[in-house]
Amino acid sequence: MILSPTLIFFLFLCPLLFVASQEPSPSWSQWNITASRTNRISLAQAAIQEAISQLNHSTAQYADPADNYRLAGHIFSQLAEFDSATNQTQFAQDLQQYFNLSQNTLESLGITNFTGPTSYGHAATIAYTTYNNPVFLQYAVQAWWAARNYTLYPDNIDAGTFPAKNFPLSASCAGSTQHGWRNSRDPADPSINVFATGGFLVLSALLAEATADTDYLQAATQSADFIHAHLFNIENLVLDTISGRANDSCAINAVLSSYNSGLMIEGLAVLYSITQNVTILDLIGEIATTAISTAAWQGANGIITNNAANTGDIYLPRGLAAAYTRNAATPGLKAYIEAYLGVQYNAVTTTARIGTTNIYGPSWTAPSPSATFNPSFQANAIQALISTINLVNSSSPSSTPSPAPVKSRSRIGVIIGAVIAALALIGVCVSLVLCIRCRRRRRTDDSSHLTSDASASTFEPFSLQTISAASAGNPPLPASPQQKRTRNPLLSTTATPSSSITTGPVSQSDTSRRSQLGTEELLGLLYQRMDNVELEAGDRPPPYPT
Ligand SMILES: *[C@@H]1O[C@H](CO)[C@@H](O)[C@H](O)[C@H]1NC(C)=O
Ligand SMILES: *[C@@H]1O[C@H](CO)[C@@H](O)[C@H](O)[C@H]1NC(C)=O
Ligand SMILES: *[C@@H]1O[C@H](CO)[C@@H](O)[C@H](O)[C@H]1NC(C)=O
Ligand SMILES: *[C@@H]1O[C@H](CO)[C@@H](O)[C@H](O)[C@H]1NC(C)=O
Ligand SMILES: *[C@@H]1O[C@H](CO)[C@@H](O)[C@H](O)[C@H]1NC(C)=O
Ligand SMILES: *[C@@H]1O[C@H](CO)[C@@H](O)[C@H](O)[C@H]1NC(C)=O
Ligand SMILES: *[C@@H]1O[C@H](CO)[C@@H](O)[C@H](O)[C@H]1NC(C)=O
Ligand SMILES: *[C@@H]1O[C@H](CO)[C@@H](O)[C@H](O)[C@H]1NC(C)=O
Ligand SMILES: *[C@@H]1O[C@H](CO)[C@@H](O)[C@H](O)[C@H]1NC(C)=O
Repeated sequence: MILSPTLIFFLFLCPLLFVASQEPSPSWSQWNITASRTNRISLAQAAIQEAISQLNHSTAQYADPADNYRLAGHIFSQLAEFDSATNQTQFAQDLQQYFNLSQNTLESLGITNFTGPTSYGHAATIAYTTYNNPVFLQYAVQAWWAARNYTLYPDNIDAGTFPAKNFPLSASCAGSTQHGWRNSRDPADPSINVFATGGFLVLSALLAEATADTDYLQAATQSADFIHAHLFNIENLVLDTISGRANDSCAINAVLSSYNSGLMIEGLAVLYSITQNVTILDLIGEIATTAISTAAWQGANGIITNNAANTGDIYLPRGLAAAYTRNAATPGLKAYIEAYLGVQYNAVTTTARIGTTNIYGPSWTAPSPSATFNPSFQANAIQALISTINLVNSSSPSSTPSPAPVKSRSRIGVIIGAVIAALALIGVCVSLVLCIRCRRRRRTDDSSHLTSDASASTFEPFSLQTISAASAGNPPLPASPQQKRTRNPLLSTTATPSSSITTGPVSQSDTSRRSQLGTEELLGLLYQRMDNVELEAGDRPPPYPT
């Protein structure tokens, strides 16, 4: 066969690209963690105690609960996650009381069953699995039904209308025959966003995991498929919003924020732990690898700085930690996640932490000028602290792993290993090219498939809406600064950067780019071969798909 430029590119550059793709960047700030696990636990515990001490103990809410009630839910999740990570039950009683008080408080504000953010459902499900107390499952189920009420299902698509919306629905977007969405309480707002849909995905997946109920599993799968079909960019990062209104031609708000990809990774990680579906594992690898390396929300130092307001994030560290702890990542990706979470941990403890207090400021890259407690910033920081508690390479007090994820071996061994790896990767790349070419040929032969995206066509409709009190009366897309603020799970003040609205289908990830073997799987196998690593139980690459 003739060596085309593409083939030459793949032959000689693709191994380099593959190898480079999951290496911590040399420009990252320090990623190895020097604090012992015990010290990390103490620091996280102190940050959590600070957050608890700032709760209003008669309402179990922070100030202005009508606007901010999502935040107490995040802290509740973190109490349970902390206990889960440290194998304790110290917050079990308190949490039960906080849920009781919060529900009463919110009901007095006209908010039933935690309608709106899915943070309470998330917290209640984690609490249920951590403490095995059915009281928490009841709260979680209530929250799920409240979210389900704002979710677009096939019936709605067929009817072309949604009860809470006053416009006709779009029946198909981006080549998919069906779609789902989420929007706000405003009956004219056509936005379906990942913050809502991804939140429902995570809640549904956690409930599916906790109860084995297939309704939750289906809801989670449909939510994930919807996001994948409509809100992925060409790099496999997750976009923000799509319009569900018939006359909007599936307009997209393509702003990139770490929380959207973080929610998707978390939901997929839980789904993978249930189904062990290698397609999902591949997808996690693609999103996470880009999310960790993108310049969209971090500088060269690798520290998350979302938006113009320069805040950290709760969702991306949480999602990556979920993939790590559930083994929904290949060994190579796990090492990459570990290094990235180490960067965030070091930034949070050295920069965001205000002096020697247990209060954390908004920015993870610049010290905060004031020492004011803010539940949103505190929750972001706590997540970064909790996420590192059970990282493998940070477990021993003296652990100072070298930057390169290479086990100590003899030099000759290293060289031989590298040569074998290079040859193997070249082989892989050749197969890839051949595979891509042959798939292209197949697709070209079958012209009826040319217009439909292979991945999109399998997606089912779905949608969800979270109510945001502040969003009532806002204009539809493009988002106003106020509206963007309500969609932004992290920022309680200040404008976000201007977002671009593009009309027309989202760039679908090119099916031809997907090899039958995921890159991570191959790397995982190579890693195993080269290093002869004794993998922990469950810590192994997925089986070869045939
Ligand atoms: C790893 O930790 C050591 C000791 O704190 C430090 O000197 C080194 O720069 C760190 N390396 C990286 C890549 O962060
Ligand atoms: C706690 O909330 C109650 C009810 O909203 C309010 O009356 C009280 O002032 C709050 N306490 C503090 C310390 O803010
Ligand atoms: C967690 O705690 C329980 C009871 O205290 C104990 O039986 C179990 O072995 C612990 N698990 C781990 C992983 O430490
Ligand atoms: C909430 O707490 C009150 C007072 O302790 C109790 O009477 C009530 O049953 C609790 N509600 C739930 C749902 O647990
Ligand atoms: C809240 O949840 C409970 C239990 O699932 C349910 O009976 C009740 O109808 C829900 N409230 C509303 C307003 O839907
Ligand atoms: C479900 O949505 C309808 C409007 O579509 C609303 O009237 C009803 O109260 C909602 N129920 C819950 C539990 O939010
Ligand atoms: C779609 O229709 C609504 C009114 O129903 C209108 O406000 C909106 O501007 C229209 N969108 C486009 C892209 O024409
Ligand atoms: C695995 O997940 C993909 C993507 O959601 C789906 O298309 C496929 O049917 C799943 N495979 C199995 C065996 O469930
Ligand atoms: C731990 O560090 C070693 C080398 O320092 C590396 O090979 C391995 O991949 C790391 N494991 C994880 C899970 O990060």
